[in-house]
Amino acid sequence: MRILDVGCGINKLAGAIGIDRNPASRADVICDLDRLPYPFRDSSFDRLQAIHVIEHVSDVIKTMEEFHRLLRPGGEAFIVTPHYTDFSSFCDPTHRWHLNSFSLRYFGENHGGFGYYSEARFEEVSVRVKLLALWRYLGFELAVNASTRFRRFWEYYLCYIVRGKVIEWRLRAVK
Ligand SMILES: C[S@@+](CC[C@H](N)C(=O)[O-])C[C@H]1O[C@@H](n2cnc3c(N)ncnc32)[C@H](O)[C@@H]1O
Repeated sequence: MRILDVGCGINKLAGAIGIDRNPASRADVICDLDRLPYPFRDSSFDRLQAIHVIEHVSDVIKTMEEFHRLLRPGGEAFIVTPHYTDFSSFCDPTHRWHLNSFSLRYFGENHGGFGYYSEARFEEVSVRVKLLALWRYLGFELAVNASTRFRRFWEYYLCYIVRGKVIEWRLRAVK
């Protein structure tokens, strides 16, 4: 199993190949994620994770296309980013993007008419939102994740009050 930990920082996943631009990180390969392609062959990874990284890159679409190129057919990407209503999303001045739980839908079947953004295709294995602790204890996290319909309702009407913490996507490369 070949695993790529993109923007691994100092918490590189055991057994993974880590890439990061910071020499003080645990990266095996120092590279700038904004300079494509990354130094690996097509379809060379079974899994890839990018934890608290996608909000830092210059172009989300191009980065997702690079993830797609690097994964083998059926390989899985695990992507984690702050929900845009979390304190951390706007607090960190190095964050360029502030995403919601539908922000990666453009690579899947339910792209809302905007599938032309990219030719890269991912099947959505799961999307999960974590909420601030208070709301989690009150049971809102279970409700938000119970169905896509309720998650959409939450994003439209409730999320500025019942605030999100992080979004976690598991996406399978279709190629
Ligand atoms: C918030 S840290 C997350 C680190 C790690 N994934 C974790 O969960 O602990 C973001 C990481 O992405 C790296 N990073 C951000 N922009 C980058 C870029 N353009 N090229 C390479 N690495 C980048 C940073 O150096 C940093 O290690």
